[in-house]
Amino acid sequence: MVRVVFLFALIVLVLSVFTVGTIAQDKDFKYVGAKNCKMCHSSKKSGEAFNIWAASAHAKAYLTLASEESKAIGKKMGIEDPQKSDKCLSCHVTGHGQPAAKFDKTYLVDEGVTCEACHGAGSIYNPMKIMKQIKAGEVKAADYGLITPTEASCKTCHNEKSPTFKGFDFQKYAVQIAHPTPKE
Ligand code: HEC
Ligand code: HEC
Ligand code: HEC
Ligand code: HEC
Repeated sequence: MVRVVFLFALIVLVLSVFTVGTIAQDKDFKYVGAKNCKMCHSSKKSGEAFNIWAASAHAKAYLTLASEESKAIGKKMGIEDPQKSDKCLSCHVTGHGQPAAKFDKTYLVDEGVTCEACHGAGSIYNPMKIMKQIKAGEVKAADYGLITPTEASCKTCHNEKSPTFKGFDFQKYAVQIAHPTPKE
């Protein structure tokens, strides 16, 4: 019995060392910007994720912070320029507040809430070979920084901390941004 417990503890220890190993890699995943995904995710055949995103509210989220409505919201909260305030940028651009090392030169703040805000920083998973291996289930997406977003991912921004929050119905909102890959 004692031996079984010991063996179990050993397995847990070994597994956790591996897990920590993967988490430590996290710093290598950099935000590369939406244009980086465009070349492979624009065609009809691919599902046009880029075009659907570009036409969505998410692509305009940074520009929104310059609107009259934003300035009025900011004024009430004592914020001079919403486009420069952490209190607004935290949900209106990708990766805000993370260390400078997490952002590649190609990252653009004015792209707003990009693919990588939902799918994870793309510098390691974006090569064709890895994308295909992930799709085929040959490698683990998470090891390359690719995340499958869930309702919880949306709620990191769609919550009552948003000054304009009107509630969040995942089913309804998910349909509005849907970009499935067509079945062959
Ligand atoms: C060099 C081409 C290329 C680039 C660049 C690229 N992808 Fe992909 N991506 C692919 C291919 C190919 C697939 C597999 C599609 C298929 O077979 O249906 C894929 C699949 C995906 C999937 C689905 C994975 C799964 O498990 O089904 C997601 C999500 C994705 N890409 C997001 C992104 C994001 C976000 C970016 C930009 C950071 C990006 N891709 C950049 C080629 C690319
Ligand atoms: C990084 C923060 C962030 C994440 C994560 C996020 N969103 Fe958003 N979303 C926003 C912001 C900011 C806006 C408003 C943009 C604007 O109007 O300028 C928005 C707007 C929207 C809109 C348009 C709403 C309207 O009233 O026009 C839909 C639909 C939406 N999001 C769905 C989703 C779904 C579904 C998810 C998760 C899969 C998600 N969002 C994840 C920040 C986020
Ligand atoms: C906790 C995340 C979060 C923060 C912080 C945040 N926003 Fe937003 N913002 C959102 C989301 C999500 C939406 C989409 C609509 C909704 O549910 O509120 C949005 C939508 C908006 C809109 C468009 C409203 C509409 O007509 O659909 C404006 C304007 C706006 N935000 C301004 C601001 C300003 C200014 C700040 C800073 C004072 C700010 N936001 C801070 C998440 C946030
Ligand atoms: C607001 C969050 C959000 C943004 C922004 C976003 N996606 Fe997605 N994406 C999702 C969700 C949610 C799914 C469905 C995940 C699932 O399978 O449950 C998805 C699925 C996908 C898939 C797989 C589709 C399939 O049928 O298997 C691809 C490919 C993809 N996204 C690429 C992109 C690219 C490229 C961009 C940017 C141009 C992007 N996404 C922007 C949330 C987002």
